[in-house]
Amino acid sequence: MLELKNVSTRYGQIPILMQVNIQVARGETVCILGANGAGKTTLLKTILGMVKPTAGEIYFNKQRIDSLPPHNIIAQGIAIVPEREGLFPKLTVENNLLMGGYYEQDPGNILARLAEVYQAFPWLPQRLKQKAGTLSGGERKMLGIARALLANPQLLLMDEPSLGLAPATINEVFNVITRIKRDKEITILLVEQNARKALLVAERGYVLQKGAVILEGPAAALQENEIVKKSYLAAGSF
Ligand SMILES: Nc1ncnc2c1ncn2[C@@H]1O[C@H](COP(=O)(O)OP(=O)(O)OP(=O)(O)O)[C@@H](O)[C@H]1O
Ligand SMILES: [Mg+2]
Repeated sequence: MLELKNVSTRYGQIPILMQVNIQVARGETVCILGANGAGKTTLLKTILGMVKPTAGEIYFNKQRIDSLPPHNIIAQGIAIVPEREGLFPKLTVENNLLMGGYYEQDPGNILARLAEVYQAFPWLPQRLKQKAGTLSGGERKMLGIARALLANPQLLLMDEPSLGLAPATINEVFNVITRIKRDKEITILLVEQNARKALLVAERGYVLQKGAVILEGPAAALQENEIVKKSYLAAGSF
């Protein structure tokens, strides 16, 4: 469904991604592991067209997308849960949520998806009139996920959904991801520093180090890999 072929990017003169090759098949959950500054967010921004590659090609459903503007790429069925929720704090929870359905023409579909999202997040319906900026950090993360689901994406990009959350909330977030995978035909590209959780929910993974893919493989193999164990699964890391 998604293919990055030798993708490189730079900010000014500084190279960030270096000849990155990543493939995600329909229905798969794939995780990208990497330390701070490895280029994970840049990778997602590049897929969305917010950062233009300096070399390489990106295909979505066999169509080349790397020269398209972000709104065209999103309209093709890609949604993102950004690193910092990217909500509109002064708007209500409801209006933030409905922005996810911006490209949907049929109000019936929006209503059906709202019902699904309320099932996944039972606290949401009572909070619709609350300003998004007054939600707790965990609630804002959940709203970010709910909003992305309203777009009914083919491909869901998630940028560190567990970042800054307490262990119980992290479990809730990963339970939601597991449920989305089970109930919907959705493909997920998950960026995480919480390698333990990410490798449990994903079927495959890539390790990004200083902008280059240094390892890739099935999640079970990565869990046993010495580099992954030492750098991303060490005792004391979550
Ligand atoms: N707009 C920008 N201009 C210049 N440099 C940038 C810009 N955005 C990111 N960078 C740099 O690119 C590198 C990769 O950043 P990126 O945000 O992709 O990392 P990351 O893997 O998502 O890290 P983290 O886990 O901390 O979120 C960093 O060194 C960062 O400082
Ligand atoms: Mg990041």
